[in-house]
Amino acid sequence: MRKVHIKTWGCQMNEHDSERIAGVLSENGYQLTEDIKDANLIILNTCSVRDKAEHKFFSEVGRIRDLKKENPDLLIGVGGCIAQQKGEEIKKRTKGVDLVFGTRSIHEIPRLLDVLSEKSKHLVNVAEYKINTLSYPALRKKGIKTWVSIMYGCNNFCTYCVVPYTRGREESRPKEEILKEVQNLANHGFKEITLLGQNVNSYETDFPALLRYIHSVNGIERIRFMTSHPKDLSDRLIDAMAELTKVCNHLHLPLQSGSDRILKLMNRGYTYSEYKRKIDKIRDKMPEIGITTDIIVGFPSETEDDLNMTMDALRDVEYDNIYAFKYSKRQDTAAEKFDGHLPKDIKEEMLAQVMLLQTEITTRKNKGHIGLTVKVLVEGVSEADKSRLTGRTETNRIVNFTGSYELVGKLVNVKIINANLSNLGGMIND
Ligand code: SAH
Ligand code: SF4
Ligand code: F3S
Repeated sequence: MRKVHIKTWGCQMNEHDSERIAGVLSENGYQLTEDIKDANLIILNTCSVRDKAEHKFFSEVGRIRDLKKENPDLLIGVGGCIAQQKGEEIKKRTKGVDLVFGTRSIHEIPRLLDVLSEKSKHLVNVAEYKINTLSYPALRKKGIKTWVSIMYGCNNFCTYCVVPYTRGREESRPKEEILKEVQNLANHGFKEITLLGQNVNSYETDFPALLRYIHSVNGIERIRFMTSHPKDLSDRLIDAMAELTKVCNHLHLPLQSGSDRILKLMNRGYTYSEYKRKIDKIRDKMPEIGITTDIIVGFPSETEDDLNMTMDALRDVEYDNIYAFKYSKRQDTAAEKFDGHLPKDIKEEMLAQVMLLQTEITTRKNKGHIGLTVKVLVEGVSEADKSRLTGRTETNRIVNFTGSYELVGKLVNVKIINANLSNLGGMIND
């Protein structure tokens, strides 16, 4: 039996692509292995969203290549966003990589492996966006929650972002196919589905309608989705979220910056006040909703004033949580050529300010749950403390609590007795 080990960097979309790589390979006689030394084939599924992710890959690939000394027949394949953008360069920079394939060439891997075993040469297939990888079988770990892709690619071209170059143009998956997959997942015991796309609001045949269809699938208890682009978030979507009980009370709505000048340079297509009006509307309909966001600090030409506007926005919206990043210059993007790139230490200082403020807000909001009873979908045993169970609230907070293993997969009421920056702790309250 040939064995494959897959290592994944990056976002949930990439994680899900790895499940599809595993699916395609398992249909072609491969078995997944957790042990890298046991593998005949190692696939590295890469991310290039920030410089750090790219560095990690290039240093890791050197170490992995050394495994060939003990195992000369080992094959190494590189896929994902770095592969899509830098196919030829990977070939040059990293001796020992046997196969490079793009983000839309997952279905080609078995064929490329066949050619490889015949000819023993280095193959690049950095594809062609038109190749449609929409319906590959994903090999998922058994569990309670899972991802379903509803669309691929991105047409937004935010000026800092590499994703439109690594994932190609937007392409929506047919509704029938998505529904079939969700139904099948429900039959296999999955309870929570997260619909994935770089910008789910531009789902071709109407995203609120898709939510309604999925809502009608028996067995699915919770529906999440990501990511929403603020400029495309419609009243109809807000209405659907408020109406559909299985759609979780959580919205991830990336703001990126509180400064209109920076937002314009980023090509985000909204001002802060337009964004805030949408937040107000959402909270008006769903007062308990959890709202999270992404923030970039240190964008080219960003000043102290711009940063203060971002800090004001954080105080104003009071996000439940944020993901904040230092701006990272990316190849091919428009911002790469902008004036005013900032030094690393200034960006670090800016990030520290943002994190300090948000740590205070997140902790305060989490502590505000003490004494409340929240509904949790039980996901399994807590990693940190094996004697406890873990799950999430609708608003996406992690809750650890004492309870018996039979509760896994069930929705339970948990009374919160303690809270910190990263999670809530409690006891079953039925
Ligand atoms: N499609 C999603 C997510 C894209 S990547 C969206 O539009 O929200 C996830 C996050 O990474 C982005 O929201 C952004 O905050 C961050 N990011 C993307 N490119 C970056 C860069 N060049 N430097 C720093 N952060 C970046
Ligand atoms: Fe990148 Fe913007 Fe597309 Fe998100 S919407 S993937 S940030 S270009
Ligand atoms: Fe995801 Fe990284 Fe690509 S965040 S889309 S794997 S660049």
